[in-house]
Amino acid sequence: MEAQPSQTMNGAHGRVLITGASGGIGAELARLYAIRGRDLLLWGRDAGRLEAIARDCRNCGVNVTTRALDLQDGHAAITAYREDDAASPIDLAILAAGLGDMKTADDATEKAETVLELGLVNYATPSAMAAAAAEAMVGRGRGHIVLVGSVAAFHAIPFAAAYSGSKAGLKRFSESLHMALAPHGVGVTLISPGFVDTAMSRRVVGFKPFLQTPASAARRIVHAVDRGQAHLVFPFLFSILRFVDVIVPWPLKRWILSQLKAGQVPRGQAAGDGQKK
Ligand SMILES: NC(=O)c1ccc[n+]([C@@H]2O[C@H](COP(=O)([O-])OP(=O)(O)OC[C@H]3O[C@@H](n4cnc5c(N)ncnc54)[C@H](OP(=O)(O)O)[C@@H]3O)[C@@H](O)[C@H]2O)c1
Repeated sequence: MEAQPSQTMNGAHGRVLITGASGGIGAELARLYAIRGRDLLLWGRDAGRLEAIARDCRNCGVNVTTRALDLQDGHAAITAYREDDAASPIDLAILAAGLGDMKTADDATEKAETVLELGLVNYATPSAMAAAAAEAMVGRGRGHIVLVGSVAAFHAIPFAAAYSGSKAGLKRFSESLHMALAPHGVGVTLISPGFVDTAMSRRVVGFKPFLQTPASAARRIVHAVDRGQAHLVFPFLFSILRFVDVIVPWPLKRWILSQLKAGQVPRGQAAGDGQKK
């Protein structure tokens, strides 16, 4: 497809950083921004899959740099962000990497190590990277930060306390950052997806209503960023559920949420794992 020039809401044409670009939603976002002619900085953990996505993007004629990094190391991520930004300014930082998990049927709650891992990958590191991005963007008076949360942030999920808790933290951080950076010409968008058909959701065993394709999710995200939207929730049904969660009294809500059931296959064993496109 022919590359088309694009610009962020504030007219900048710099590089786009995407974390979690080695699979799922992040990989689709990389392809869309490459088609739009944006130079890319792609981060992931699996260097092989990351390079395959980078090759696809380079076929659109854009410059692509990759970095393989484990986001559990938040200090390394902050340092890497500053190095990459100093090499060539990042005007759009899309922090899409994330990790899903839930307790097994035999356990009362998730393992302590899982809670720590999800806290780091889903909340602490993306928030710290957003702060590093904000420092640089405020200095330049332009830029846009995108944080990918989840509709799980809206509800207390008894079998996924770490996932819903980490995404709830990210949601609150994003809303606060949006207000703090608005006077400085820097945009912040929170994305709260429902189920998207990626390696993450393929681990989940159970009802997945209104499952979206990664390509459709990526298109919605790009559109929300173009419009400078503060918060995108999709599909729309989850906006209604969010409202219901707010108005239903706590005893009834606790009863409903405690009826929810789901299971998951172990990591790396879901259909399509290792060959994410
Ligand atoms: N799929 C859904 O149903 C759904 C629903 C709501 C929200 N989301 C959110 O959407 C975002 C993208 O998820 P996805 O559905 O595209 O899942 P995915 O296909 O599993 O992709 C997750 C991405 O995050 C990266 N990642 C995970 N742990 C990492 C770590 N420790 N260090 C560095 N990178 C790491 C993965 O890298 P490697 O593959 O290289 O390890 C991969 O690129 C996540 O924030 C997720 O929470 C997804």
